[in-house]
Amino acid sequence: MIRLHSSPLQGFTDFRFRNAFQKYFGGIDLYIAPYIRLKGNLEIKPANERDILPANNSSLDLIPQIITKDANEFLHVAKYVQKLGYNELNWNLGCPYPMVAKRGMGSGLLNMPEKIDEFLGKVSAESDIRVSVKMRLGYESPKEILRVLPVLEKYPLTHIAIHPRIGKQLYKGEVDLDTFEVCLGLNSHTIFYNGDITSVQRFREMQDRFPTVTHWMIGRGLIADPFLPSMIKANNAVYPENRYEVFLSFHDTLFSSYEEALSGPKHILMKMYSFWEYFIQSFPSSPKGHKKIKKAQSISAYREVLKLIINEELRRFT
Ligand SMILES: Cc1cc2nc3c(=O)[nH]c(=O)nc-3n(C[C@H](O)[C@H](O)[C@H](O)COP(=O)(O)O)c2cc1C
Repeated sequence: MIRLHSSPLQGFTDFRFRNAFQKYFGGIDLYIAPYIRLKGNLEIKPANERDILPANNSSLDLIPQIITKDANEFLHVAKYVQKLGYNELNWNLGCPYPMVAKRGMGSGLLNMPEKIDEFLGKVSAESDIRVSVKMRLGYESPKEILRVLPVLEKYPLTHIAIHPRIGKQLYKGEVDLDTFEVCLGLNSHTIFYNGDITSVQRFREMQDRFPTVTHWMIGRGLIADPFLPSMIKANNAVYPENRYEVFLSFHDTLFSSYEEALSGPKHILMKMYSFWEYFIQSFPSSPKGHKKIKKAQSISAYREVLKLIINEELRRFT
C-alpha cells in the first residue's frame, strides 16, 4: 500500500487549506505543516501556533516542521509541539531560497555534514521527540547528499524525504532521478520521494522506476489538481462527474475561511490570486484565466471571472 503525504507550501497549505482539502478531496494520509521559523528569540509566531493547534487540525494527521540551524531552537519547538500532543518534528533541510540558504539553513546546511551531525547529536541527546528530515540533494551540488546520508544513518530518524533537486536550481530543471536512486541504495532509513508528481501518469512512471518506495510526497501538484491524490490512490485517472461542482465547493470553503481571517477584499483577492497560479493548471481552456483573476478589483468581479473560467472548461466537454 502506498502512502501519500502533503508536502508543505508556505503561504498555501496552512490549516485553512488543509481542512478544506481534507473535506472535499482526501487521498492524503499525512500533512506536513509549512515550516516554523523562529526569529532568534525562541518565540513562535502566533500564525505558526494557530497553524498547528490540534483544534485547527482535528480532521487530519499532521507533523509540524521547523527550519533552523540551531539545535536549541529545535529543542524549544520540540517541547512546544510535544505539549500540543505531537510526537514528531520534521526538520527542513531543503528550502532553496538564497535568503535562507545563505544563512546556513534549509538546503544551505547540506554542505556542512559535521554541523548536521552536531545538531542531531544534541537533539537526540536532549529530546525524545521523533525526528524526520526533508531535504534536497545539496545546495551547490548533488554530491553534497552523499556526505550527509552517512551522518543521518547514525540517528533513528522516522524517515528522510528527498526532493531530488539542488537548492541552486530552485524549482527549475529536471529532478535528478539517478542521484535519488543512488541515495536509495545508500541508506537504511525509509526514504520518501518528493518532486514533480503532477499526474497519475507521472506517478505511475515514478513508481515503476522506484518500486521499493512506499511513501510519496506531493506539493504543488496537489494544489494544481486537488483530485490527484485520490486518483493516485484509486490508481485511476478518472475525475468524478461532478468535478467542477466539487472544486467550486472546495473553493468557496477556502474563500470563506480566508474571508474570516483576512481583513478586506483586497487581501482576500490577493490570497485567491496566489492560489490561482496553481488552480489554473486544471483549467487548460482558460490560458489567460490567471491574468483575469489578477485584474478583478472586487469580489463580484472575481466571482464573474471564476464563473467564466469554469464555464469555459465545461464547454470543452459539451
Ligand atoms: C511556494 C512554496 C513554498 C514552500 N514551502 C515549503 C515549506 O514550508 N516547507 C518545506 O519543506 N517545503 C516547502 N516547499 C517545497 C515543497 O514542499 C516541495 O518539496 C517542492 O515543491 C517539490 O515538490 P512538488 O514538485 O511536489 O511541489 C515549498 C515550495 C513552494 C513552491
